[in-house]
Amino acid sequence: MTPFASGDRIHLVNKKGRVYRLQLQTGAVYQFSGETIDHDDIIGLADGTEIALSRGTRFFVLKPTLSEYTLHMKRGAQILYPKDLALIPMWADVYPGASVIEAGIGSGALTIPLLNAIGEKGHLTCYEIRDDFAARAIKNVESYFSPSPLNDRLTVHHRDIYEGILEEEVDRIVLDLPEPHLVVPHAVEKLRSGGIFLCFLPTVPQIEKVVAALQEAKVFESIETFETLLRPWNIDGRSVRPNLRMVAHSGFITTARKVKRLVRPETQVPPDSNSSL
Ligand SMILES: C[S@@+](CC[C@H](N)C(=O)[O-])C[C@H]1O[C@@H](n2cnc3c(N)ncnc32)[C@H](O)[C@@H]1O
Repeated sequence: MTPFASGDRIHLVNKKGRVYRLQLQTGAVYQFSGETIDHDDIIGLADGTEIALSRGTRFFVLKPTLSEYTLHMKRGAQILYPKDLALIPMWADVYPGASVIEAGIGSGALTIPLLNAIGEKGHLTCYEIRDDFAARAIKNVESYFSPSPLNDRLTVHHRDIYEGILEEEVDRIVLDLPEPHLVVPHAVEKLRSGGIFLCFLPTVPQIEKVVAALQEAKVFESIETFETLLRPWNIDGRSVRPNLRMVAHSGFITTARKVKRLVRPETQVPPDSNSSL
């Protein structure tokens, strides 16, 4: 891990776990409750180092995790939350070197873990109908990755994916948009055999439509739908119990595997009883 540099976004975390966000800038001064510290005193430190402000208040300096970065990045469209972002690359089985289609890009919250999963040799192609959302997502991706993955291992099409997928023989299709059933015919055409179709949907009628479309296409197997609930717990002395608040629902994940069926001969030839004599 390289030491903190000017331009890095950091978190200052106090003893109670309260987080204060700032972006380091050479020559700038951080002020907190009448105390100060020069940014230059933080630049060059290692992730996790403890610092003291001018009157002794202490903080740990931490690089935001991807989950923290995602929750605080600027949004265009509604983002997927970390609990679903963690699961999608696993359930879509996104692997290093894979060619993946994502739609819509939204704010780019899913784009970042997908880029992490495909690694340096994979390619992610995103479809997005709204130019303003695509621009926001690209900014979020570019402020996370350095150098920018754009035009190298990330392509963004300003296109409606319901009208078709331009790429051939893709390994994975990952969707977070309202009508993924309209993408199923394109997945039939452009997903390679053994490839995985995954979509995230908030409501049951949407799932019914996409599952029906996958079943009717006749080239998908292992069609599965699930949801996850994340329940944080409070562990504080003798108070050991679930937190009073939780996100009760985000959405459902549906996955399916594209297959190549055995082509059966139209008529069965009856065995010739004389041929073995
Ligand atoms: C819920 S947002 C996706 C959020 C994204 N997964 C994230 O976490 O940042 C849905 C996105 O799909 C886009 N969209 C909707 N229909 C589309 C279509 N037919 N083709 C491409 N993008 C579409 C919307 O403009 C929107 O940006």
